[in-house]
Amino acid sequence: MKVPLARPIMTEEMIEAAADALRNERLTMGESMFKFEEEFAAMCGVKHAVSVSSGTGAIQLSLLAAGIGRGDAVMTSSMSFVATTNAYVAFGGRPAFADVIEAECTIDPAEIAVTQDLKAIMPVHLYGHPARMDDIKAVAKESDLLVIEDACQAHGAKYKGRRAGALGDVGCFSFYPTKNMHVGGDGGMVTTDDEEVAELVRKLRHCGRKSQYEHDAIGYTARLNTANAAVGRIQLRMLDGWNDKRRAVAKRYDTVLDGVGDLALPPRPDADFLPVYHLYTVRTARREALRAHLDAAGVQTGVHYEIPIHLQPIYRTMYGYSEGMLPITERLCKEVVTLPMFPDMTDEQIAYVGESIAGFFAGAE
Ligand SMILES: Cc1ncc(COP(=O)(O)O)c(C=O)c1O
Repeated sequence: MKVPLARPIMTEEMIEAAADALRNERLTMGESMFKFEEEFAAMCGVKHAVSVSSGTGAIQLSLLAAGIGRGDAVMTSSMSFVATTNAYVAFGGRPAFADVIEAECTIDPAEIAVTQDLKAIMPVHLYGHPARMDDIKAVAKESDLLVIEDACQAHGAKYKGRRAGALGDVGCFSFYPTKNMHVGGDGGMVTTDDEEVAELVRKLRHCGRKSQYEHDAIGYTARLNTANAAVGRIQLRMLDGWNDKRRAVAKRYDTVLDGVGDLALPPRPDADFLPVYHLYTVRTARREALRAHLDAAGVQTGVHYEIPIHLQPIYRTMYGYSEGMLPITERLCKEVVTLPMFPDMTDEQIAYVGESIAGFFAGAE
């Protein structure tokens, strides 16, 4: 049996919606884009959602709009996709890192060191599991810092009943094709209750336009194409149902993998945390051997992430970072392995992955 790591969904209805937008709407800044924004804001429970061309763009433009610029530091976790910090290193922001909570792989609020140049904390809701927002916000409040969520893996997730994207001052989403919802290509969204930030992101994504021919900011071309927004509107309607299915898959994995080998499983949902399992990532000291075994069995796996951001070659070069700086993050990055996860995964596929893993630990080929 072959089991893929992820399976992005693209239905005839979505293709037809994109074609309809291409035939009948403005190709950029069309009606579907504005409707998608309204609907996404409603899903998150915020006043404003502003679409952009990627998750990286969402982080970059929201930080700029929130007044963070060259020389300002933003604290985040290094156990993330490199875009989390690339987004602001690109304009001269300084990446600051705190280690993560081992069981959750999200930033440990107790590890956040506040420095003079620190302007914001950016928790990453890694794998779709919300970070510990109350504790993070308490640190932020004490030192007058902004909280910008990297919710690029957490569409629809909840913390204490509130959606990701509505948990800090600003939320940033990616619609890259493997995410829990996508737009049939690259895309992103900024969510906020702050009218000024929303206005400025709208301006920055649209070449810094004040009016059609007047520009009063150095902006970018970072709009979401109308046809992509049309796809996103349909995906958004499916999101909660898909997330329920992902949680059901995770629950079955939790059962079949419980007590197998040295595996550490993801944290379970509880009253405070409603994760959306963008990725179902387990940990083992025997990762490489397990991956090879699963590969031979036709089960695709991934590593999120093999190299923490601070140890990426460019970050070592730019900042002189080296091993030992974030011990938990660095160890986890050697142990994590991501198993197949998509809403329509069948019981047979889950059982097959479980049996293949059990077979590995039992020493059977
Ligand atoms: C945690 C995280 N942050 C940022 C990004 C960047 O998003 P994009 O690839 O849409 O630029 C991603 C997605 O790939 C991500 O997973």
